[in-house]
Amino acid sequence: MNVYDSDRMIDVLAPLGYAPTNVLDSADMVILNTCHIREKASEKVFSELGRMRQLKERVADQQGRQVTIAVAGCVAQAEGDEIIRRAPWVDIVVGPQTYHRLPELVSKVDPKSRNRIIDTDFPKEVKFDFLPGEHAPRGPAAFLSVQEGCDKFCAFCVVPYTRGAEFSRPAKTVLDEAKRLVAGGTSELTLLGQNVNAYHGDNGSGGVWSLGRLIRALAEVNGLERIRYTTSHPLDMDDELITAHRDIPQLMPYLHLPIQSGSNHILQEMNRHHTTDIYLSVIDKLRNACPDIAMSGDFIVGFPGESDQDFSETLSLVNKVGYASAYSFKYSPRPGTPAANINHQVSESVKSERLESLQQLLQAQQFAFNKNTEGKTVNVLVERTGRQEGQMAGRSPYMQAVNFIGDPDQIGRIVTCQLSAARQNSMMGRIINSKGVA
Ligand code: 5AD
Ligand code: SF4
Repeated sequence: MNVYDSDRMIDVLAPLGYAPTNVLDSADMVILNTCHIREKASEKVFSELGRMRQLKERVADQQGRQVTIAVAGCVAQAEGDEIIRRAPWVDIVVGPQTYHRLPELVSKVDPKSRNRIIDTDFPKEVKFDFLPGEHAPRGPAAFLSVQEGCDKFCAFCVVPYTRGAEFSRPAKTVLDEAKRLVAGGTSELTLLGQNVNAYHGDNGSGGVWSLGRLIRALAEVNGLERIRYTTSHPLDMDDELITAHRDIPQLMPYLHLPIQSGSNHILQEMNRHHTTDIYLSVIDKLRNACPDIAMSGDFIVGFPGESDQDFSETLSLVNKVGYASAYSFKYSPRPGTPAANINHQVSESVKSERLESLQQLLQAQQFAFNKNTEGKTVNVLVERTGRQEGQMAGRSPYMQAVNFIGDPDQIGRIVTCQLSAARQNSMMGRIINSKGVA
């Protein structure tokens, strides 16, 4: 979502004459768009801010210009005052729900008075209503935020505090944005939300649409070939969404559905409101609806109180599901979240051991999934040139990166490839037809 938000910041600043640059020393303003989900991501902001201080001094000395430094995103939201205290050279602190106000905030920066502008409101107005309709082309595969915030309050998670309460964009504004993206050359959309399948957007005629219904409407947008969504909560996988996986060819056979732990005791401590059985029954329904669906997930190891037995239940859940890919993290205590105050924190060395063995298993599953697709003929949306000479790179329906010998003209097109060899994190392919099969 930070990628989407950063693109929208570019859009909102474009009328003021700002455009993105790859040359740091030519920038008039630098915006760090930050993530607070784990301590590591959060601490990175402060080391990056050290570099920004040097930049500011260098440009003032060498070019006689003032560079504006802004910090956006969830670290800004959660630690705005701390940022100003530790990095007084920061000019603007702006949270994830107020970046539509950037033009106004930028206009208030006055290098002489060294005033600091902090805007971390949760405003009444909806930022999407104030973001420009126009935007730069986003490429063949683009993100589209449809939902934000979260009311679930998992005990480890900062999101409900940094992104705020659940909000769903009205269906019409989503459809309009989708049509504009497609007109700009996008053919795959990933619908975004912290809790995307809790989507319940105004349908314009007094009712609400679920995510499944929204996807059905998006499937009618001409030129939109592929639809994905992320991230989902198991309890919000309703029948309309599950049957969308059966009925809508544009909806890709891949789903990121985090469970976090395979132990019912830990799930309860995490305040997840579901058991492993509920999760597994959702996956059963999904596989009935779409037999080749590739599953992905998130796991946290070393949540407070996690015993060896709890952890081994995570490994057996992973074995039951068979993931095509997954993300796993050591538990990171986050300020202000209930789990940070639980005694029984797990030691760093135990967390490291558990992460290592979980990742070994997940990597083996990913390779097995890839191996199993060898020889298959699939559509690939070509996104860019590959790392090696003559290579093109795109994604299979299952989100696998596919590299094949091709032509830069193919960027943005869906081509048919036979998957020829599995790698750990990608597939090699052979192009069969430069027009994808339906
Ligand atoms: N520590 C470790 N991992 C976390 N996540 C969220 N909060 C924490 C935390 N405090 C992970 C979860 C979530 C993903 C986005 O980040 O697995 O699904
Ligand atoms: Fe965080 Fe996801 Fe739980 Fe919401 S559902 S609190 S975003 S982990």
